[in-house]
Amino acid sequence: MSKGRVEVGSVSKNFSLGGSKTVDILDNISFSAKANEFLSIVGPSGSGKSTLLKCMSGLLKPTSGTIAINSVDPYSLKPSHLAKMRRSEIGFIFQSYNLVPALPVFENISLPLRLSRKSIDKSVVEEMLRKMNFNAELTSFVDTLSGGEQQKVAIARVLVTHPQIIFADEPTGAVDAESKQIIFNILRKLADEGACVIMVTHDVDLAAMTDKALVLKNGQIRQTLTGSSASEILAEIERK
Ligand SMILES: Nc1ncnc2c1ncn2[C@@H]1O[C@H](COP(=O)(O)OP(=O)(O)OP(=O)(O)O)[C@@H](O)[C@H]1O
Ligand SMILES: [Mg+2]
Repeated sequence: MSKGRVEVGSVSKNFSLGGSKTVDILDNISFSAKANEFLSIVGPSGSGKSTLLKCMSGLLKPTSGTIAINSVDPYSLKPSHLAKMRRSEIGFIFQSYNLVPALPVFENISLPLRLSRKSIDKSVVEEMLRKMNFNAELTSFVDTLSGGEQQKVAIARVLVTHPQIIFADEPTGAVDAESKQIIFNILRKLADEGACVIMVTHDVDLAAMTDKALVLKNGQIRQTLTGSSASEILAEIERK
């Protein structure tokens, strides 16, 4: 079985607006990402980047087309098997963090491991947060943290599970410039060590440092850029 691989085949997604009205968000998208690869998805707000990431990761069934995660269609699985696949093979860093507000930092980060009945080493969590310049306490409730601190908790929660495939939706959207570079370096290292990393970002400087930047516009992948500079990527995003 090919590990750390995601294949997107002719995926379209539309949303119902009530009655017979629908809105088309993704239009016949095909590409794949594999182990050791760090891919970025860029495009204007509302172009469907988060929708695409959710479709790719088993969170949102496409209207048509196919998704294969390590050669398996996640939407063909029973809910319990899909949940297991998502726990064991995938990490998803949400744009909106999706933390549990009623739990402290450490409990939020250890939750996925507890669900998988794996042990959790407090010093590993501390070290991961320290690397990201996280300054709050492990005992703080996450709803008392700043947006940037919550984002770091959301990232740590995914990284402690060592996923083969990491979906990161704007993982640096709320953090300062130094933390942004640190988080990028962490994701880069994971890809270099064998993970497949797919990151949505508005930051063209970061996109330029990934292996491939997919430019999403009007529901389609307009360009796949390799070795392009930040200004070249920006020009593609803004091109009519
Ligand atoms: N469940 C839904 N029902 C109806 N429309 C939706 C739904 N989810 C998303 N959309 C619409 O689909 C479009 C794409 O949304 P999406 O969140 O994928 O954009 P995005 O590229 O991630 O934007 P941003 O850069 O602002 O995060 C938007 O117009 C949004 O309103
Ligand atoms: Mg989004």
